Amino acid sequence: MKVLLVAGARPNFMKIAPLYHTAAGLDNLQCLVVHTGQHYDYEMSQAFFDDLELPKPDFFLNAGSGSHAVQTAKIMVAFEAVCQEHRPDLVLVVGDVNSTLACSIVAKKMCIEVAHVEAGLRSFDLSMPEEINRMVTDAISDYFFVTEPSGVDNLLREGKPREAVHLVGHVMIDNLLRQVEKLQEMDTGAFATREFKDRFGERGYVFLTLHRPSNVDDREVFAGIVTALNEIATDCPILFPVHPRTAKMLETFGLELSPDVIRLPPLGFRESLFLWRDAVLVLTDSGGLQEETTALGVPCITLRQNTERPITVEQGSNILAGSKTADILAAYRQVRANGGPVGQVPLLWDGKAAERIWDILR
Ligand code: UD1
Repeated sequence: MKVLLVAGARPNFMKIAPLYHTAAGLDNLQCLVVHTGQHYDYEMSQAFFDDLELPKPDFFLNAGSGSHAVQTAKIMVAFEAVCQEHRPDLVLVVGDVNSTLACSIVAKKMCIEVAHVEAGLRSFDLSMPEEINRMVTDAISDYFFVTEPSGVDNLLREGKPREAVHLVGHVMIDNLLRQVEKLQEMDTGAFATREFKDRFGERGYVFLTLHRPSNVDDREVFAGIVTALNEIATDCPILFPVHPRTAKMLETFGLELSPDVIRLPPLGFRESLFLWRDAVLVLTDSGGLQEETTALGVPCITLRQNTERPITVEQGSNILAGSKTADILAAYRQVRANGGPVGQVPLLWDGKAAERIWDILR
């Protein structure tokens, strides 16, 4: 079986890594890695390939940034040529980014089977580009690998055949658990951010990530979040690796962060984990970090009105706060006062999702 594993943006790399490593030990399975080039800066891409011990991609499509249409179209044109030349038996896509959408459409139109890993998640918010990507990809996929029961319910409600829907756990948690072990074995003295961890010591720090267009592309919303961050920083310093989109919008809007909101460059997977796993709490609008904090029991406040990953709120350590100043501050005070939800680790988030996926596909 020849499989193309597609990845393009930062959160994809964490999801293909366990699939790639697990496949290496299996007979009659050839896995080729396609990097669409949606993310391309060293910190956004190669740093992850290094940390996750992924090989140089077999195909690099060099799509780069652009409007949604431009980026998606570039990926589609380049990926079609790869499929034409190499005729895979299966295209495996992960998550919900533009690369996921582009490659699933191309494959399906060439009558190549498509497997979607992290299928079925729904925020029911069509202003979110990822929601459109998820819905379209699921509309045409052949195999659905699902991380949490809500995803199974959504797919069945949308009419998917029961036998094509598989609750397998979460490949991103496979990767997380592997990286927690790696981190324990390595010398973290080389991390540039080590000094902050040492300096803040007992007092602790908040770890922040922010990049959703709905939070950073609207001046009023972003300004409200910055007001909340500056207020929180008077109580507890904030470590903030800044996504390129967010850096650009901070500058465009001329927003001022307090000196206690410490701006960092985008961090590799391990250095980021090194910081957030010991944070007092995590503030984020990322999808993945809501789940990773749940897996390690770190309190998480999500700066969004909704989540396509409800299990993190129902069972895990996640609180949905929205993006308004007062709501963020109320959630922060609540977690600081009572330590936040302890939560439990969802069923099958045990480091074996990639094994289950290959068992089913083979
Ligand atoms: C994308 C995904 C989002 C995911 C996020 C993780 C879509 C629709 N969005 O959003 O789901 O959560 O990645 O980071 O697929 N840029 C750089 N260097 C890079 C990559 C991007 O400077 O290596 C800048 C560019 O100016 C670009 C902007 O960041 O215009 C946004 O990048 P893009 O990939 O379009 O979307 P993200 O916001 O990263």
